[in-house]
Amino acid sequence: MDETHFISSTTNSPVPLTTRWEAPSNIALVKYWGKTDPQLPKNSSLSFTLSSSVTTTEVEFKANNKKTFEFEFYFEGVLKPDFHPKLNSFFKRIHHYIPWIALYSLKINSHNSFPHSSGIASSASAMAALSMCIMDMEKTLFPETTAAEFYRKASFLARLGSGSAARSIEGPVTLWGKNTPQESSSDLYASSFGNQLHSVFTAYQDTILLVDKGSKAVSSTQGHQLMHNHPFAEQRFVQAETNLERLLVVMQSGNLDEFISIVETEALSLHAMMMTSNPYFILMQPNTLKIIQKVWDFRKQTQIPLCFTLDAGANVHLLYPQSNKKEVRTFIADHLAVYCEQGQYLFDEVGSGAKKV
Ligand code: DP6
Repeated sequence: MDETHFISSTTNSPVPLTTRWEAPSNIALVKYWGKTDPQLPKNSSLSFTLSSSVTTTEVEFKANNKKTFEFEFYFEGVLKPDFHPKLNSFFKRIHHYIPWIALYSLKINSHNSFPHSSGIASSASAMAALSMCIMDMEKTLFPETTAAEFYRKASFLARLGSGSAARSIEGPVTLWGKNTPQESSSDLYASSFGNQLHSVFTAYQDTILLVDKGSKAVSSTQGHQLMHNHPFAEQRFVQAETNLERLLVVMQSGNLDEFISIVETEALSLHAMMMTSNPYFILMQPNTLKIIQKVWDFRKQTQIPLCFTLDAGANVHLLYPQSNKKEVRTFIADHLAVYCEQGQYLFDEVGSGAKKV
């Protein structure tokens, strides 16, 4: 299968439709960092799909008499022209695969379940929710589209909006990138790790410690660019593939010592890439490091398998089994909340993927 598989037919008669989908954020365990055009990650990645951190998007598809595609984007009811350039390039990239869109004008209204300024990236959940709405229209036009095709193409389209968004369509664990052990995996779309998953991971907890709620000094998109000509890029891509192969085994065995070792290595390698880019940059903050040290001390003292991961920012994701919820939450409240901006953190857990609402 290649990209041409996803090119749909066109139609002459537009059908009006309003549809609304909710899509979750995700947290990568093996990180994607570095990409080529168009939006093709340089290495495989694997993530937990989250449950409470979601974007809900409603799209109204109206027949467009001018026969040139147009859209308006509202965030929480307010027209947001500043989002247009990012959405414009998304629609330009996907137009080829959904030629029927030329007959429509879209009114897109989106909102997030997580607070406005929380430093949580919303591009994954936002692009995934929008892609589900687009696929709902495609299914309306072409009812023969199977469920498997629907989800695959939604992930394919979402990837063209934001690389990590490909992994926000399904749950509870998703994998992007062709690799040898997982035969069904693909470079075109992400797929669910599904029924091979060890039961400890099906309700894994993620508490997001909001160390810095402001916007990041360097965006992910800029960070990805800096992997071109990066002195350690090739070794990093090899490391990610090796870590992914190790993690695929752990996802089935439930070996939490190995899980912790891979996940924390991945988080620190991601940030090491940032620190060794040209120009270099640091997104962690002093409180990020204080939390990491406290997590290590806690794990040593209690033997509770609590670990951390980081996305491209200062916030810390704490990962732990559901069975340790009580002790970990007491530890967070008593010892880690002090390092969070306004003492804030968000509880989340592994979830099942996008749904129609
Ligand atoms: C560190 O998907 O946000 O979270 O494709 O440019 O939109 P774009 O970047 P994005 O990058 C994600 C980076 C990451 C790792 C990951 O989610 O795999």
